[in-house]
Amino acid sequence: MDSFTFHNPTKLIFGKDQIQQLSEQLPEGTRNVLVVYGGGSIKKNGVYDQVMQQLNQVNVNVFELAGVEPNPRLTTVRKGVELCRQENIDFLLAVGGGSVIDCTKTIAAGAKYDGDAWDLVTRQATPDGALPFGTVLTLAATGSEMNGGAVITNWETNEKYGWGYAPYTYPAFSILDPQNTISVPRDQTIYGIVDMMSHLFEQYFHNDTQSPIQDEMIEGVLRTVIDTAPKLLDNLDSYEHRETILYAGTIALNGMLQMGYRGDWATHNIEHAVSAVYDIPHAGGLAILFPNWMRHTLETNVERFARLAVKVFHVEEEGRSTREVAEQGIEELQSFWSSLGAPKTLADYEIGDDQFEVIINRAMKRGAFGNFTKLEENDVEKILELSK
Ligand code: NZQ
Ligand code: ZN
Repeated sequence: MDSFTFHNPTKLIFGKDQIQQLSEQLPEGTRNVLVVYGGGSIKKNGVYDQVMQQLNQVNVNVFELAGVEPNPRLTTVRKGVELCRQENIDFLLAVGGGSVIDCTKTIAAGAKYDGDAWDLVTRQATPDGALPFGTVLTLAATGSEMNGGAVITNWETNEKYGWGYAPYTYPAFSILDPQNTISVPRDQTIYGIVDMMSHLFEQYFHNDTQSPIQDEMIEGVLRTVIDTAPKLLDNLDSYEHRETILYAGTIALNGMLQMGYRGDWATHNIEHAVSAVYDIPHAGGLAILFPNWMRHTLETNVERFARLAVKVFHVEEEGRSTREVAEQGIEELQSFWSSLGAPKTLADYEIGDDQFEVIINRAMKRGAFGNFTKLEENDVEKILELSK
């Protein structure tokens, strides 16, 4: 293992009706709160009312920024930064999924930065502060509720990048009530499951040979998600299954499983390039790309893929070569995602190869990437070709 320092400053408040703790979480002296949310799901499922009831219990002025898009856009970040300055906002509250949270993180840092927030996203500048913010999560997927990452799209230039800067982009607190995820529609529930599984895969594929605890933990979370996902999709109203999946999403990307080594993260980079050009759901892209990244990089460490096949997908080893076992694991993964209803090829989104050059160009923007296997331009092209 590499040496590491782990510090996650986010206070996690998890469970039924825990939104009741919201008002007491606001920092002392908070006067102007900006509530950030998306396209209106929180008004339909009652979460908006619960939040407002909490904020009305304390003496604060409430401002709102509605309409954050899935795959949140730079234009909305800029609007939020402007609002923060105009209204002297001293605390932000993100109420929604990963998109709302990522947008809020970038607004929080952008409000304390003199230039354009895009400089932060492109890492041309680093923030030297941020407004404090908290979150009320309504969708199990990204882990953004307990990590320092944010992903923002510049639709004018078709660029989508992840960024973050500790400790400023970590939420001060996140409130997770499984009840608030029951209204998540079937397709978004599937995407959430694919996203958290992908986060586990990104961290599972690394080149450190000494990570027995991390390996077992990742495999355990994967097995649990695989076991729970079909049950949840059979009964979207199940509190217990929503609870398991919600907890899994947070654990999958709050840093706990990635101590002492660096995960791969190449597939996420390619997916961000695809959704910067086509605006498809993040995990829809991952469901298509991940099995093909696996096929393409199999040779890097066939044993690792075989271990995943055996420990997570229960592939029989007897009488078969390591390679056959490894390959079957990848097939099992793709069939599992298909059985849930996730897309399998780019054609499922009517994406052809006409924009491959732009996608490759965006993916390569920060140079060769991937910590398990370094990908160059031709590798990205091959993975896209396999995904057609
Ligand atoms: O906008 P509203 O009306 O709220 O509807 C949303 C949206 O349409 C809806 N939704 C959310 N909670 C709901 C609900 N509908 C009914 N009931 C509820 N309780 O779901 C739709 C999708 O929401 P979104 O926030 O876009 O989904 P997700 O949480 O999957 O976030 C995706 C974004 O996160 C980025 C992705 O790239 C993408 O931009 N990621 C962020 C990461 C991070 N910060 O660590 C890591 C991830 O790998 C990912 O890249
Ligand atoms: Zn993801």
